[in-house]
Amino acid sequence: MPLDLSYVDDTVARLGRAPDAVIPVLQALQDHYGYLPEEALRRVCASTHITPAALSGVATFYDMFRHKPVGKHIVQVCHGTACHVGGAERVEDALRRHLRIPEGDDTDAERKFTIERVACLGCCTLAPVVRIAEETTGYATPEKIPGTIQDFLARPPSPSRTALDQGLQPKPRAASRGGNGGAEIKVCLDSCCRAKGTDRVFQALQESIVLNGANASVKRVGCVGACYRTPMLEVAVPGRSSLTYTGLTLAETERLVSAHCRPQGLARRVSRLWNQGLEVLLLDDGRLTPSPPSPTPSRPPADDQAFFGRQVHIAMEHHGRLDPLDLDEYMAHEGFVALRRCLGDDRSVRSDGSAGSVRSALTSEEIIKTIESSGLRGRGGAGFPTGQKWRLVRQQAEPTKYVVCNGDEGDPGAFMDRMILESFPYRVIEGLAIAAVAVGAHEAIFYVRHEYPQALWRLRAALAEVESRGWLGERLLGSDYPLRISIKEGAGAFVCGEETALIASVEGRRGMPRLRPPFPAQAGLWGKPTLINNVETLAMVPWIIRHGGAAFAGLGTATSKGTKVFSLAGKVRRAGLIEIPMGTTLRQIVEEIGGGVGPGRRFKAVQIGGPSGGCVPARLADTPVDYESLRAIGAIMGSGGMVVLDDTACMVDIARYFLQFTQNQSCGKCTFCRIGTKRMLELLNRLCGGTATRKHLQELEQLAPQVAEGSLCGLGKTAPNPVLTTLRYFRDEYEAHLAGRCPAGKCTALIKYRVRENCTGCTICAQRCPVNAIPMTPYVRHVIDLHKCTRCDSCRQVCPYGAVEVV
Ligand SMILES: Cc1cc2nc3c(=O)[nH]c(=O)nc-3n(C[C@H](O)[C@H](O)[C@H](O)COP(=O)(O)O)c2cc1C
Repeated sequence: MPLDLSYVDDTVARLGRAPDAVIPVLQALQDHYGYLPEEALRRVCASTHITPAALSGVATFYDMFRHKPVGKHIVQVCHGTACHVGGAERVEDALRRHLRIPEGDDTDAERKFTIERVACLGCCTLAPVVRIAEETTGYATPEKIPGTIQDFLARPPSPSRTALDQGLQPKPRAASRGGNGGAEIKVCLDSCCRAKGTDRVFQALQESIVLNGANASVKRVGCVGACYRTPMLEVAVPGRSSLTYTGLTLAETERLVSAHCRPQGLARRVSRLWNQGLEVLLLDDGRLTPSPPSPTPSRPPADDQAFFGRQVHIAMEHHGRLDPLDLDEYMAHEGFVALRRCLGDDRSVRSDGSAGSVRSALTSEEIIKTIESSGLRGRGGAGFPTGQKWRLVRQQAEPTKYVVCNGDEGDPGAFMDRMILESFPYRVIEGLAIAAVAVGAHEAIFYVRHEYPQALWRLRAALAEVESRGWLGERLLGSDYPLRISIKEGAGAFVCGEETALIASVEGRRGMPRLRPPFPAQAGLWGKPTLINNVETLAMVPWIIRHGGAAFAGLGTATSKGTKVFSLAGKVRRAGLIEIPMGTTLRQIVEEIGGGVGPGRRFKAVQIGGPSGGCVPARLADTPVDYESLRAIGAIMGSGGMVVLDDTACMVDIARYFLQFTQNQSCGKCTFCRIGTKRMLELLNRLCGGTATRKHLQELEQLAPQVAEGSLCGLGKTAPNPVLTTLRYFRDEYEAHLAGRCPAGKCTALIKYRVRENCTGCTICAQRCPVNAIPMTPYVRHVIDLHKCTRCDSCRQVCPYGAVEVV
């Protein structure tokens, strides 16, 4: 059947015919057709100014674009660092087996499911993570896969996929049945919490409030940071201290409402019994029944004190308190005060925009001086002084300037920017607007990676809300300063986080970095001076303007001022998002805040800074986290991803994992990066596969500094870091691999399983083995057929007697 191409024509009419429309057009076509059909691409070329060469160049450069038909459901398997460490490969193998996806293909014969490997979905505290048709599932294991697929097929679409959080409801509060004085139940609806089911809890609470006639409201809030307690909700009853609950099931939410919320009007009997201190449940048919015991609030204050004790929240100010999309609430908490100050309108904040006392604006010079005096350095990785960059852009004679918020966050193992965009979109918009005013730009762009759908929905909804008040466009916040803000969605290329590649991408080209100078501050987007700042950098700005540069500079170390947000994930007991003063040591982060590694395990290293960073061994954990100290030990702060590794991690495998990532993401423009990383990966594959000789190890050691030296952009220049740091601190593991051993038991080519004498023949391992490598021999010691065995580790994990060992 010929393809209906009317959608192509509509899309082109809607998104434009200019060459820079190419990525949004391709994204829309893929959303519609599931892939990029050739006929549709030809039609695009015929009806726009986009040439076939430009179109195919872009369509084949970005990872998100598919070139052949896909199954009905897309199953994305996250291969971020935390997921890799947590066993993502085994999860993917199990999915392939369960969905019967043939080797070398990614779709099953019935075209029901297509598997997609994703570099990082940014839900690292739930690792390993699988996302099916936009529903994220955390803590995936090979054993859980059949149940996960069955659940997905059985359940109706999550409320979040309909209207709850796609920006269609700026304030999804349950109608309070009782007006004032009722309980307020705060539920985080950010990606990680939703992956643990909080959207369903939210909906159940709303229904339960109506059913019980309870004097209560449910409020959507942003990320608290304590992901280790997800799903979590907080009940605030006026006059009482608030209680938090973790791990609630849907059934428990109803009991929670009856436990905390005084019934109103609906049933006087209920009220009377309530007053007598009896808990009752109002059934659908109107009968009353004693309620089962209400869930117990979780009271781990010691845990929470340790987790939050050292934290200082600036980018994450009011974390877990505000509805991310409630503009009035943001303003009631000093939102837009800083921007007003920069625009000369310092009146007390009123949501209707009515005039108050007006004082003269901070000049751009004063804004820049404040940022300079704060000592703020870019949080995107390079740590360049923010005020200095703003000054450079402002100094350019060219009148047309741009500002760009870099929300590409491609580092696997990092999710700070996702959380900030999801939880505090107005704060980032405010920071971006202040930056624009400071440098004299009238056009600003958010560049956000497409793997963050919720961050994109929220940002769109927040911008629409600000726009609806007439505060964007010709009159920024009612002033006479024009500012337009738009959003560009990334298309799945890590290198596009690099600023010159990002510019190429916004202009509709392949995301290839270029040599600098000229720097983007001098000649950036469309050749005009362009300020590019990271999401977190911009989120710090409103606080600095409100409190002054000195207040920010008073935190942190001599050269690294203020606070830094980190995503703390991997093998740590309390994973989450933390904001700490610079200079906090790695040990304080891992052991105090994170609560150390799991029981019986040994803290081995911290991987910091993603693919550009390094692995810091536990013996150097007293290193303060600041730009200089980390550089001195061969690592970098990067954008703030921190993955804790315990003794189950193989450091050669970690080095290979990162090289695989950078090699895959290399844009191919320069030889050192294109060929050098490929050769390094081949050598690491040999090491992990047990076929490396000492000559190969020597070659790896020689090549690493050459690639760092010769590459064009930061991607290639820093790609060898994970190899160099593991060689420096964990050389013994490289030596062991040369001798054919993987001490951590991770590299599958180097391990075998053996069943010990204490096996009782209980058959659990035989039942769980996905490839029938263990014959079913009840009451007889089991044997593993190593030819069939895929090293999925299921047998070892399920054996109740610890009888399966790795040799
Ligand atoms: C390969 C590569 C990827 C990068 N990815 C990001 C990113 O995802 N987000 C980001 O803000 N900066 C990223 N950067 C750094 C940017 O080039 C740039 O320095 C930064 O956006 C500037 O903002 P800042 O000064 O506020 O840090 C990346 C750099 C390289 C070399």
